[in-house]
Amino acid sequence: MLKKMVFLGTGGTIAGTAVEASDNVGYTAAQLGVGQLLQAIPRLQQALGAHAFLAEQVVQVDSKDMGWSQWRVLAERLQHHLAQSDVHSIVVTHGTDTLEETAFFLSRVLSKKLLALKSVVLTCAMRPASSLAPDGPQNVLDAVAVACSAQAHGVLVVCAGTVHSAHDVQKIHPYRLNAFDSGDAGPLAYVEEGQVRWLHACPGVDASAADFPQVALGKDPWPRVEIITSYAGATGATVRALCAESAVQGIVVAGTGNGTIHQDLELALSEAQARGVRVVRSTRCAYGSVVVGAAAGAFQDSQGLPPVKARIALMLELMA
Ligand code: SIN
Repeated sequence: MLKKMVFLGTGGTIAGTAVEASDNVGYTAAQLGVGQLLQAIPRLQQALGAHAFLAEQVVQVDSKDMGWSQWRVLAERLQHHLAQSDVHSIVVTHGTDTLEETAFFLSRVLSKKLLALKSVVLTCAMRPASSLAPDGPQNVLDAVAVACSAQAHGVLVVCAGTVHSAHDVQKIHPYRLNAFDSGDAGPLAYVEEGQVRWLHACPGVDASAADFPQVALGKDPWPRVEIITSYAGATGATVRALCAESAVQGIVVAGTGNGTIHQDLELALSEAQARGVRVVRSTRCAYGSVVVGAAAGAFQDSQGLPPVKARIALMLELMA
């Protein structure tokens, strides 16, 4: 049977336009539809080989403004397309700013049975579509090469010829084209002239594990989980203010170094925890994860997740 590749558009710089072609920062994100982006890519059909394709605009946002309502509809559309037997894989165009959060969220909520067989490949651009030298078209072609690869499954991110897992990817640069990194884990693969050179197998997806209950995504509002950073001179004021509002259900603390927390902030977090607020400890270090010693800490460990992903994990735990 002829298999389909589905492209879902969500906005971002890849769909952005500026007044001047030479302007790579003063643009407006999320201006062009995913269909327009695909039309402007030479050799897209060659890259797709025998696959037909379908394009759908799911949302149209600058990804700094990504929120629950957009995630809910994106997860729903992905789940729908993944479940179709004639769909091979899905490419999602997305802004770079919260791409790692969306990728991680999707890796946790989409059906494991389907992710074990198919891939959802998120891609992006650092320069707008109107740029003299846009990076979006090549990133889409690279994402297609990955989506077509027999070794690909699960949620992956492709940018600047590099393939990352949803678990490890982080945006680490505000401007350069190669803006993403997988930290200590390193990238999964490189895409070179349409060929995917795998360095590591895609992280396994346990098809027999229980799926995230989709019905929970429909509930409103989603649990409120905030991120607080520890730093020189940090106080407990923000934590106490959050608890006074009584809406906060969880706090992720981005600790210094090996997850250490300023004593004044730590006291306020302990008070919050005693009142039933879930507290998770991560580190603000870009690389590595908190190394937990023999003694159990006062706060739950983020299991190697950086603060933004630990926040999503806690939120989903509270929802499910
Ligand atoms: C966005 O994240 O939507 C804007 C920035 C980008 O895509 O690089």
